[in-house]
Amino acid sequence: MCQKVSDLVTMDSIPEHELSRLEALARTDQPLEMLIERRKNGEPLQYIEGTAAFGPLELRVDDRVLIPRPETEGLFEIASRMVRHPEVILDLCTGSGALALALKNEFPGTSVFATDISEDAIDVALANRHATGLDIYLAVGDLFDPLPASLLGEVDLVVANPPYVSDVDFLTLPEDVQREPKVALVSGPTGLEVIQRIGVSVAEWLRPGGVVICEIGESQGVAASICFTDLPAVVRQDIVGRDRYVVAVKP
Ligand SMILES: C[S@@+](CC[C@H](N)C(=O)[O-])C[C@H]1O[C@@H](n2cnc3c(N)ncnc32)[C@H](O)[C@@H]1O
Repeated sequence: MCQKVSDLVTMDSIPEHELSRLEALARTDQPLEMLIERRKNGEPLQYIEGTAAFGPLELRVDDRVLIPRPETEGLFEIASRMVRHPEVILDLCTGSGALALALKNEFPGTSVFATDISEDAIDVALANRHATGLDIYLAVGDLFDPLPASLLGEVDLVVANPPYVSDVDFLTLPEDVQREPKVALVSGPTGLEVIQRIGVSVAEWLRPGGVVICEIGESQGVAASICFTDLPAVVRQDIVGRDRYVVAVKP
């Protein structure tokens, strides 16, 4: 017997707004029941849909990348306000390419370089580069390693949303967040390991007056800002007042 949508809602307690998005996706080869089952099993809605909005862009996402978050859109907005006519931008830990592509869209004349340690993530970013037609440079590797040495001291803006969850805190994350790649979330025992490595190296890549903006966990403000050893770093808040970004301008 064919089930009615209202029966499925009651059975699976999927919020109404999610249910209407799943209904819009349902097709003969992907019936609504199957989509509801996937969601019920903890698969994030954006992975089921295969897309996520980021600023003005609609990006492809799947379980190879972190789903871009509103906090990271906040980072993009701060960056867009802080720099004028940048020539060179770096996006470390690019994942789906969200920040790199949004910044290229905002500043079309800029050369944007983006790296990620995950080959899978770079494959998704390449698909997004193709789909958006935004011409950014993408490379697999550890933080600054894949970048040409010619960029040392030449960069106007470095952005990064690195993994910043500790091993222990990972276990407390909601089930659907734990379905995202662990390498995108967890940096090690303290959660600060990747931020620290960005903090000690970033100054040599920036030109004088260049800006770095790094997303952090809400309890990491003080600890993260002192990782930026050669720069006068300050902590900035997101729209609901949580410590979310370390920002520094190279003197
Ligand atoms: C929190 S996700 C951010 C993804 C994307 N920038 C965003 O905001 O949606 C962190 C990303 O960092 C990458 N990553 C982790 N360790 C890295 C490293 N040492 N060097 C470069 N990328 C790294 C992960 O593969 C993941 O794609």
